Amino acid sequence: MTNRTTVGIIGGGRMGAAIAQIFASAGHSVLLVEPTEAVRDTIPKRLADIAKARGQDTSVAGHVRVLHEITADLAACTFITEAAPEKLELKQEIFNRLDAVCGPDTILATNTSVIPVTEIGARTRHRGRVVGTHYWNPPYAVRLVEVVETPHTSEKAIASTMTLMREIGQQPVHVKRDVPGFIGNRLQHALKREAIALVQSGVCDAETVDFVIRNSFGARLGIMGTLEQSDLVGLNLTLDIHKVILADLDCSKAPQKLLVDLVAAGKTGATAGEGFRKWTPEERAELQGRLDKALLQKGAAVG
Ligand SMILES: NC(=O)c1ccc[n+]([C@@H]2O[C@H](COP(=O)([O-])OP(=O)(O)OC[C@H]3O[C@@H](n4cnc5c(N)ncnc54)[C@H](O)[C@@H]3O)[C@@H](O)[C@H]2O)c1
Repeated sequence: MTNRTTVGIIGGGRMGAAIAQIFASAGHSVLLVEPTEAVRDTIPKRLADIAKARGQDTSVAGHVRVLHEITADLAACTFITEAAPEKLELKQEIFNRLDAVCGPDTILATNTSVIPVTEIGARTRHRGRVVGTHYWNPPYAVRLVEVVETPHTSEKAIASTMTLMREIGQQPVHVKRDVPGFIGNRLQHALKREAIALVQSGVCDAETVDFVIRNSFGARLGIMGTLEQSDLVGLNLTLDIHKVILADLDCSKAPQKLLVDLVAAGKTGATAGEGFRKWTPEERAELQGRLDKALLQKGAAVG
């Protein structure tokens, strides 16, 4: 795959528009499909805002053409990323439509967070060109992309996708087996399950969980991975610790009661004013602003 090709993005929401901006700023022509008019109307401003946040020229948005639906225009694309809502049937339908419109060499990627890529591509005719490209939010600041291989994905599709991700400035890692949640979300939600269990069982409140994370092992995580940490202190210590602690860790196989009850009560988080803790609009804006600034600085430093 050569640089400066035409690429497609399906879904112009939070992730789709940001991914479109990344491709456009790397010199690609982008076809961005967004069926909802109210969302389409916001795309030019969101593309401009991302360019400004990245210190780039806002004219890059001129390389993004917005379509209302999947049309034969997508046949020009060498690479298409689906970033529609996280619903299996919807994603399968999109892949079927793309499969019909595009030639067999167009790579079809999904940005699903946790759905197995194999299931999303199950009904396509050319399953060798189906891959996962799991970006993180915001993708121009958190550069990692998990490139997911299914049992059907061709070596060529994986190699081309890894190369393309590097060319547009992202940091690809190859996920060699298509497990739900890939690598990052499995780790993130294993931690979240235990965090919820600690609050639910009365060990501490939600603020304390997050304070401990930020100020203990979380302080090290940006510098040193969890397996490096075990190597550094010696694996015999990790083994001794696991002999005591593993049997006691939460292993719920379904969403925990605390989370289910909060959502049922409308306490869905910062936007609602309450989730695991209470939020004012100012607290929410302050945390979001601080996070965006820090991630952008880190993303820029990565290169
Ligand atoms: N938000 C995140 O932090 C994040 C991070 C990584 C991956 N993801 C994944 O990316 C995908 C998109 O998430 P998002 O946060 O951008 O959602 P979003 O709701 O902001 O955007 C989805 C967009 O898809 C559009 N859409 C609906 N039906 C469509 C169709 N048939 N064809 C094309 N577009 C359609 C919607 O109008 C909406 O604008 C999901 O699979 C999600 O799990 C999200």
